[in-house]
Amino acid sequence: MDLATYLHDKKIVVENTLKDICTSFTTTPGILRNAMEYMLFSNGKKIRPILAIAACEAKGRSADDFLPCFCTLEMIHTYSLIHDDLPSVDNDDLRRGRPTCHKAFGEAVAIMAGDGLLTEAFRVLTDSRFTERVSPKVSRQIVFEIAHAAGTEGMVGGQVMDIIYENKEGSKNILHYIHSHKTAAMLRASVRIGAIAGSAKTRELKSFTRYGDAIGLAFQIMDDILDVEGDEEMVGKKLKKDANKQTYVKHYGILASKYKLEQLVDEAVKSIAFLGENGRVLEEIARFIGNRIS
Ligand code: IPE
Ligand code: IPE
Ligand code: MG
Ligand code: MG
Ligand code: MG
Repeated sequence: MDLATYLHDKKIVVENTLKDICTSFTTTPGILRNAMEYMLFSNGKKIRPILAIAACEAKGRSADDFLPCFCTLEMIHTYSLIHDDLPSVDNDDLRRGRPTCHKAFGEAVAIMAGDGLLTEAFRVLTDSRFTERVSPKVSRQIVFEIAHAAGTEGMVGGQVMDIIYENKEGSKNILHYIHSHKTAAMLRASVRIGAIAGSAKTRELKSFTRYGDAIGLAFQIMDDILDVEGDEEMVGKKLKKDANKQTYVKHYGILASKYKLEQLVDEAVKSIAFLGENGRVLEEIARFIGNRIS
């Protein structure tokens, strides 16, 4: 199995599903739809829905019936990036190699494009047109997982602490809170909803969750490392911007951060060993997260 081909093929599947979702924005004001689509179809990795697909397939189930549900992870992630880049948050001009949403559409429209993506994600999750073959029980579980990961107990909570602790000394505990909430929560949910869609049993779901936690933290550690020594062209955003933030590199140094990253990838791989050959893609994705350059 060649992971690059897998990621490429699944990214196309995700983009096509997102295009189908966007056709349901029939009376949305043009400028708002343009701003949402500008960000949704910019060159991101689409790793969250791909993780959900991979987890579902690892359980031997096709992801076809769940694609719109899985793509709402990308709608919410994209909203989080639009708001993360705003002048009052990280104040960034470049995202995925292009001007950020507020640079292209103005701050007010960018805020509302984020609001729109977040709210429409939950409409898609509960819209019979997109969830025809998802059982009500699984549907309810997926909605809960996503809301819990995206909300104040998850990503939004982490984002607030990230901002509050800017220019402060902080601590390793604060750092862990920030990383496990602002980034790991959504990645963990991505893996969990894929596993739930694939009818994972309670014990299996625990193992998928351990995998999700490990790659989630690894993902943000790599993001911190890339801010220091990444290639701006490859990463598609301005680098060396995190000097005043709570980052792994600040609290542990670059070498220890890389060591921790390796340990987390190993932990992730071990957590899904029970899947055998069916877990190969998830194993490769964990290694990709530990080596990524974009
Ligand atoms: C960037 O996420 C923000 C973090 C949570 C670290 P990604 O690295 O997944 O960004 P895209 O979606 O591929 O652009
Ligand atoms: C953002 O973390 C995490 C989100 C929830 C958006 P960062 O602020 O480090 O992400 P980048 O580096 O801007 O992509
Ligand atoms: Mg930020
Ligand atoms: Mg940022
Ligand atoms: Mg960052």
